[in-house]
Amino acid sequence: MKLFDGLVLGIETSCDETSVAVLDGLTVRANVVASQIEMHQEWGGVVPEAAARAHVESILPTLQTALDQAGITLPDVGAIGVTNRPGLVGALSVGVTCAKGLAALLERPLIGVHHLEGHLVSAHFAATRPEFPHVALIVSGGHTELVYVQGPGEYEMLGETIDDAAGEAFDKCARLLGIPYPGGKGLQELARTGNPKAFDLPRSLPKDPFNFSFSGLKTAAFRMIERTGAGIDRADAAASIQAAIVDVLVKKAMRAVREVPEAWGLALVGGVAANESLRTQLAEACARSGLGFATPPFEFCTDNAAMIALAGSMRLAYGATDDPSLDVFPNAALPSSVHQNQG
Ligand code: KG4
Ligand code: ZN
Repeated sequence: MKLFDGLVLGIETSCDETSVAVLDGLTVRANVVASQIEMHQEWGGVVPEAAARAHVESILPTLQTALDQAGITLPDVGAIGVTNRPGLVGALSVGVTCAKGLAALLERPLIGVHHLEGHLVSAHFAATRPEFPHVALIVSGGHTELVYVQGPGEYEMLGETIDDAAGEAFDKCARLLGIPYPGGKGLQELARTGNPKAFDLPRSLPKDPFNFSFSGLKTAAFRMIERTGAGIDRADAAASIQAAIVDVLVKKAMRAVREVPEAWGLALVGGVAANESLRTQLAEACARSGLGFATPPFEFCTDNAAMIALAGSMRLAYGATDDPSLDVFPNAALPSSVHQNQG
């Protein structure tokens, strides 16, 4: 995979993290994440207007911290990559406006990055980098997708969730157990001492081989908690919920990676890739099948600008750039080629 020759500044503001990174090839010189989670916890989810305002407040201090950590000043930046799609429009606009201003001021190339491509390339921050072609499982708060990654920037969507995302299922079930938003990590901690077989929860496997469905699990978890009442063993409930989500993800991902011809193996990316049970089970399943497995360190699983800088670096190296009219898009399909940008 070719990369831009020079320092790339990455900016990510698509949802509830303001993040700025400095990347040198594959070396992360700085990756600063200012989280808004505490603010959104009051409402139990992300409030778009509040998110945009918080990005306005934190974008410049986050930029300065990233430059300081990398030990550079603005003129050292060689190019700028910014998430411009998909996401909350107001939130995206803050990052894109900042990136455009910097690109004009510094006279450096600017590249808009699809947020999911950021997650996809984050697999290259793993100790074992994925080889091409491979299958990627993207699991986050907003996405659950299986993607065939034929080469750098060459993607084919194999399947996706038909309702809730895996992270959403974690968060909604966690909420039922009184765990604050976003509940994935808290549910994992609670599950440590629980019995994953204590409660029998559904494993929904939609007919389409690579699609997912998690909305039935939330309803079943609600009924389970209601039926059992206040005396419910929360650790057992958490372990059973985690097992139900992980089982489905493992089954579908392994099916995809076995069916795709000549796949090197599997890349696991996105916030839910931080889940230890999911990482371990997929690593073991791939090892048993003689397949490769790559997943980034935890800090590059949840939203971060280092992955956006890396996707931007790759696109620039293959000849793509954007001009100052770069726009933001709340919804956008993953580009299918490294030479196709805005979609
Ligand atoms: O990728 P991400 O930071 O944001 C989106 O693009 O959505 O993913 C956030 C999601 C949340 O749903 C959060 O609960 C989940 O990732 N998550 C986890 C874990 N850490 C974060 N889910 C399960 N286990 C974890 N350890
Ligand atoms: Zn994300």
